Amino acid sequence: MLKTEQSQLLYDQACQSLATGVSTAFRKQVTPVPMYMESADGPYFYDVDGNQLIDYGLAWGPLIVGNNHPRLNAAVIEQISSGYTYGAQHRGEVELAEKMLSMIPHVQRVIFSNSGTEAVQAALRLARGFTGREKFVKFEGHYNGWLNNILVSNHPTAEQFGTTVADCGGQPAAEYSLTLTCPWNDLDALRKVFQQNPGQIAAVIGEPILVNGGSCMPGEGYLPGMIELCRQEGAVSIFDEVITGFRIALGGAREYFDLEPDLSTYAKAMAGGFTISAVGGRQEIFDALADGRTSHFGTYNGNPISVAAAIATMDILSEPGIYDRMHGHGYAIREAIETVAKQCGQTLITTGTGTAFHVHFGLDSAPQSIRDVMRADQETGNRFRAAMLDHGIYNLPGGRWYVGAAHSDKELHRVLPAIESSMQSLR
Ligand SMILES: Cc1ncc(COP(=O)(O)O)c(C=O)c1O
Repeated sequence: MLKTEQSQLLYDQACQSLATGVSTAFRKQVTPVPMYMESADGPYFYDVDGNQLIDYGLAWGPLIVGNNHPRLNAAVIEQISSGYTYGAQHRGEVELAEKMLSMIPHVQRVIFSNSGTEAVQAALRLARGFTGREKFVKFEGHYNGWLNNILVSNHPTAEQFGTTVADCGGQPAAEYSLTLTCPWNDLDALRKVFQQNPGQIAAVIGEPILVNGGSCMPGEGYLPGMIELCRQEGAVSIFDEVITGFRIALGGAREYFDLEPDLSTYAKAMAGGFTISAVGGRQEIFDALADGRTSHFGTYNGNPISVAAAIATMDILSEPGIYDRMHGHGYAIREAIETVAKQCGQTLITTGTGTAFHVHFGLDSAPQSIRDVMRADQETGNRFRAAMLDHGIYNLPGGRWYVGAAHSDKELHRVLPAIESSMQSLR
């Protein structure tokens, strides 16, 4: 059984000084209590109550090679002794930029920033500088960072479908007045938005797999259609690869789907848990920076510690067979969940890939967008997650699982029986 007494005590204490007790609103969704971690090693973490948990949350994505990886540790420690940050150029950032160009299909230039939120804003700035237009399109149910212009229509209610709604208080309408929202996986809807805003749309940005909205896969022809439509309309197509980058393939969704959007954003798995993000894409668009049509800033951009971590992570991820192994691990979990559910009379479906997927109780066909995902049975999903936690298996709220290179057959042999007994406990 999961013990939570010490986490609860620390959480109560935290609420007296750290507003809300957590450092990002997402962590508040973690039940039964926001857990306090003591340490982490490989695919495990250890919390303040003495629970050892197999980690399928991976810090919401970044920990693609697990914690305490010897090569990642060595790279970071070596860099620490030669400087924390320079506020100037260094060899590492050139090496990292060249590495990204060689690993990610059709990426001709990159820029660095620190978080996914920043990379998204940098991509939008670039698209606007390049096109001279101001509006952009984002999709319902997609999360592209927390800033006012884009934190809209992430969790729309059925009545709000088709409108642009702020996600929380403190977001002035003026700051998202240039943001157009559109349902995902629906090319006709996107075409209509272009028709209603002729010559005004600088960019269309979306997750190539809707991981934040339930790991929905793009429909046949949808992503190429989106890219082509942007091309025809003179807008910049942007894949927000903050989750999918370096996770579903070394070259992210560009490699996985064999597609060439104009720009892509990267963060999370890019540096295995260290803070860095990037935008990559067509040189012509980055020329808007080179010739001064727009600008890019950031004190910590390309800082040597994060750069060293990114290079080491990418080297580890370049080992042959690593993505097949990670996906295989995830597909084995998905298959077990679906098979055992059927035996237990539970309706559910798993969606996504092997390295990032969701379990949706109550759905019998793959959801196409957040509108379908909202029909899932969250309550049973939460009970299943709680039962898995009692077996020491940690995944994220909403039925989200991340698989990384540190997960091996040893962990799988613990997960599979836990799935069986957790599913049985739901009857
Ligand atoms: C697709 C996507 N874009 C952007 C972001 C924002 O990234 P960050 O939390 O690093 O600011 C996230 C974070 O979860 C994300 O999933």
